[in-house]
Amino acid sequence: MTFSLDHVVFFGRTWDECLGMYALDEEDLAGRTILDCPGGPDGLVAGGLLRGLDITAIDPQYGDGPELLESRGRTEIASSMKSWQDDPEVAFEPDVAADFERKKIEALEQFLEAFRQVPERFIAGALPALPLEDNAFDLVLSGHLLFLYACLEEGGMMEHDAFDLDFHLAATHELVRVGSEVRIFPTYTTNGPPRRQPYVEPVMDAMREAGHAVELIPARWVQGDMDAFNDVLVIRRAD
Ligand SMILES: C[S@@+](CC[C@H](N)C(=O)[O-])C[C@H]1O[C@@H](n2cnc3c(N)ncnc32)[C@H](O)[C@@H]1O
Repeated sequence: MTFSLDHVVFFGRTWDECLGMYALDEEDLAGRTILDCPGGPDGLVAGGLLRGLDITAIDPQYGDGPELLESRGRTEIASSMKSWQDDPEVAFEPDVAADFERKKIEALEQFLEAFRQVPERFIAGALPALPLEDNAFDLVLSGHLLFLYACLEEGGMMEHDAFDLDFHLAATHELVRVGSEVRIFPTYTTNGPPRRQPYVEPVMDAMREAGHAVELIPARWVQGDMDAFNDVLVIRRAD
């Protein structure tokens, strides 16, 4: 049996997990305008505002109110954990699974508090066409959508092909349009043997052709035991 999803799940990582997955330290963020795209229910805006950062998130689901997002977030965590743990090929050890679930709830609760207190920091919008000005941000962080939600045949988690290579190319150009530096995580596959997700290289080629600088650098955060090809794609826009 192959683990798969029919939609993009509404769950997110904590502040510390996000910094690790993007290979960033707090000092790297000070003084920069930051966009979290998609933010989902992660802890980046909450953690960033606590530290005095200028940070905003965007996600197609932010048009829904906090009550709906809270119940969706809690349901998504419970049902995703169940389907994940029911699949012997991807199931975590029980203690790893419990930690995974606890962190998802922690991130959701951090997100909900910030979403209720500073709703203007959460914008409704979807890739590949964000309702944002060119070059609006210094740094754009994009986690757990691109590459991960490619279809199963391409090593992703989706049962269908809504996020094909054309989507990835358009979405990455869009992220670079709004931010001068873009970081995308993960770049590995979750289906089949561990390898680089097949869209990563064509996306890197397209970015290079557009004149941007690209590199893969090791992430510092490991999800479960997925430590192979655990790199973040960094794109720096040509000015
Ligand atoms: C798993 S969450 C990722 C949250 C966070 N970045 C993290 O890494 O923990 C994925 C999010 O992608 C959002 N999403 C789905 N389709 C999208 C699209 N076309 N453009 C932008 N975000 C999208 C979903 O609403 C969901 O909240």
